[in-house]
Amino acid sequence: MRSYKVALLPGDGIGPEVVGVAAEILAYLAERAGFALEMKEAPIGGAAYDKYGHPLPEHTLALCKESDAVLLGAVGGPKWDTVQPPSLRPEVGALLPLRKELGLYANLRPARLSSALASASSLKAELVQDGLDILVVRELTGGIYFGQPKGRDADGSRAVDTCVYTRFEIERILRVGFETARGRKRKLCSVDKANVLETSRLWREVADQMAPQYPDVELTHMLVDNCAMQLVRDPRQFDVIVTENMFGDILSDEAAMLTGSLGMLPSASLGDRHTQGGTFGLYEPVHGSAPTIAGKNIANPLATLLSAAMLLRYSLGENEAAEALERAVEKALQDGLRTADIAAAHQPTIGTKEMGQAVRERIEI
Ligand code: NAI
Ligand code: MG
Repeated sequence: MRSYKVALLPGDGIGPEVVGVAAEILAYLAERAGFALEMKEAPIGGAAYDKYGHPLPEHTLALCKESDAVLLGAVGGPKWDTVQPPSLRPEVGALLPLRKELGLYANLRPARLSSALASASSLKAELVQDGLDILVVRELTGGIYFGQPKGRDADGSRAVDTCVYTRFEIERILRVGFETARGRKRKLCSVDKANVLETSRLWREVADQMAPQYPDVELTHMLVDNCAMQLVRDPRQFDVIVTENMFGDILSDEAAMLTGSLGMLPSASLGDRHTQGGTFGLYEPVHGSAPTIAGKNIANPLATLLSAAMLLRYSLGENEAAEALERAVEKALQDGLRTADIAAAHQPTIGTKEMGQAVRERIEI
């Protein structure tokens, strides 16, 4: 029997509630699709700090490293905003080192809008009435956020950041772009600033050199400023967008907000390590720990469920289960089921657990 290990890191705030729902659904899918899933839980974030004095305990990191994939809720909250030293605060002390230690260099951010939620979008109705489906692939470990030299002159009068990319780094992220486009509409838009930046010219050169290996994928290039405009002018032209770290940071948020709803947005961060079904990765909702609604059974679990679907697809290679889960989420939305954050005025709402139950009932596999 196919068998996989998944690490669950619920974290803080609404994290345990939404990861709890996802874990139940993953177990159900495993049973239905006929694979074994060993899920182990470990503490991270403020919860881990309270218990072990560190937001990323050694045993949590070790569990992630021996797993095929990690499903994370969210970390942080006002309770830990004043922890000293700041390096022990949840976001800085847990999320950044976790991504680094796991070698996650490719960030996948789907911006998908169900036609059932079209009215939540900030765009004109005719642009989104059939829904939207864009995937932004962002390079996560290079570029201007990490390049050296970086810093301030001694007298504080000048500051420097450096954008560096190697051919190796560009090639491996573009490969993720080409490969994911293959599993979708086979359109890859590589975004850069090649009219100004040398790193972008190298980026474009590498993309053109790789294109013949993917004759089934249509590669186009777009300048980042134009892309920012095109995303709001006519987002339907895009399938997969692949870009460097800073451009991807901005464009992925822009694309995400076309869908209008934080509670619906999943993400994946992939590393280099191969698993039996695909690539090791960390999966998490884009939203944070939403402390003000924690423990009330009102958080929307769909971002985490859609993250779980990505986990099934990219790290376990269980595509059928992934699609069954995505279809069930879509069905629940089409049937009018809404948590409070995605409900229109006067629309009845259901809770976190009830939404999980509704999705589970709609799984057909
Ligand atoms: P947030 O994403 O937690 O919340 C923003 C707003 O959206 C709030 O009104 C919240 O109630 C709502 N919201 C978020 N997720 C929701 C869901 N699933 N269902 C229904 N409503 C939802 O961002 P915020 O308020 O800026 O940060 C809260 C805490 O989370 C902070 O400590 C922050 O540092 C942390 N955070 C952690 C992240 C992570 O773990 N990756 C990412 C972003 C923030
Ligand atoms: Mg951002």
